[in-house]
Amino acid sequence: MTSIQALLARRNPAYALEQAFYTDPKIFQADLESIHYRDWLFAIPACELEKPGSYVTHKVGDYRVVIVRGADQEIRAFHNSCRHRGSVICKAAKGHAPKLVCPYHQWTYELDGSLLWARDMGPDFDPKAHGLKPVHCRELAGLVYICLAEEAPDFDGFAQTAEPYLAAHDLSNAKVAFESTIIEKGNWKLVWENNRECYHCGGNHPALCRTYPDDPSVTGIGEGGETPAHLQAHFDRNEAANLPSNFHLSADGQYRLARMPLKEGAQSYTMDGKAAVRRWLGRVPFADAGALLQFHYPTTWNHFLPDHSVIFRVTPVSPTETEVSTKWLVHKDAQEGVDYDLKRLTEVWMATNDEDRQVVEDNQQGINSPAYSPGPYSPIQESGVLQFVDWYCARLATGVSPSAVAAE
Ligand code: FES
Ligand SMILES: [Fe+2]
Repeated sequence: MTSIQALLARRNPAYALEQAFYTDPKIFQADLESIHYRDWLFAIPACELEKPGSYVTHKVGDYRVVIVRGADQEIRAFHNSCRHRGSVICKAAKGHAPKLVCPYHQWTYELDGSLLWARDMGPDFDPKAHGLKPVHCRELAGLVYICLAEEAPDFDGFAQTAEPYLAAHDLSNAKVAFESTIIEKGNWKLVWENNRECYHCGGNHPALCRTYPDDPSVTGIGEGGETPAHLQAHFDRNEAANLPSNFHLSADGQYRLARMPLKEGAQSYTMDGKAAVRRWLGRVPFADAGALLQFHYPTTWNHFLPDHSVIFRVTPVSPTETEVSTKWLVHKDAQEGVDYDLKRLTEVWMATNDEDRQVVEDNQQGINSPAYSPGPYSPIQESGVLQFVDWYCARLATGVSPSAVAAE
């Protein structure tokens, strides 16, 4: 048996990871414990919780969480486990409830998590000591993040950096026009590695490539390198119109913001490149301002466009399965059939997601072979993958105990 730290120490950083990182249940568990159970995780767009009592449930590893809008409009998150004998309280993926009532013995909680009612618990029972356990929860410009750790890492640095970029997109006035949830039969890191490069785009994404440039200066991380003049000119034009656009990668590599140009003349991810929604979501001053690309490891990448936004969430399910949820956000007053056509709005990313699912699954299948050995990343095309894998390995090395071993 090899320790996970030893596997990390012998890694060749220019190469893909060894098989165990993509298949081993013990490394999967170490990923959850070192990363997903510790970090801030994107959960939902706030607009999904329309009114007090609206809730959404989410499962991360062994944790179940309910996110609910309170009577005071505040969004809170709780462990979705009853303080009586532990039953799950909210079973649906989403819903609306004036109080949170446990289905087992009907203990009843207020939307702020306090226990309101429990039958026949005797004179010494203290309801105040039996409120739902809170989960850290922050709303940032219409995006809800949670953290499962007892003590959450800093969120303010990210919030202060991202807020000005996101403000123009006015996500609190959005609605979810469509959502899709797929399970990709691949390790969560393969989903991310695939997302962080466009080396595969030309060969796999005919619809996306109509509007999305597979130019490595746009799709890569540009770390330490010069920003090419055409890209800087694009940033400068947006910035001069008070639209934050400059490339920003956090010092720890966890998140990146940049408003990247689409292909010449393209405005949005549609088959003809024109806007998909007549009533825009947000206040972007130009139709060709490009897409604000935000990623925040380990759970979300996003494309904020002048007319609509597309929000992705990545949730590990097992060593070889990952849930990818996609939500298309439009202005809350935009009417389907009048301001937008749902097929036109969603067809490019529905196709792209399915194409990505296929390549991720093929990647996993090939890695499962005993003959697999890590191959080199392209330094030109896969700088984003190198950056993700470096971030991942650094987080795992910090989080995993020296005694943790891989399965074989
Ligand atoms: S387990 Fe919830 S009321 Fe008994
Ligand atoms: Fe892709």
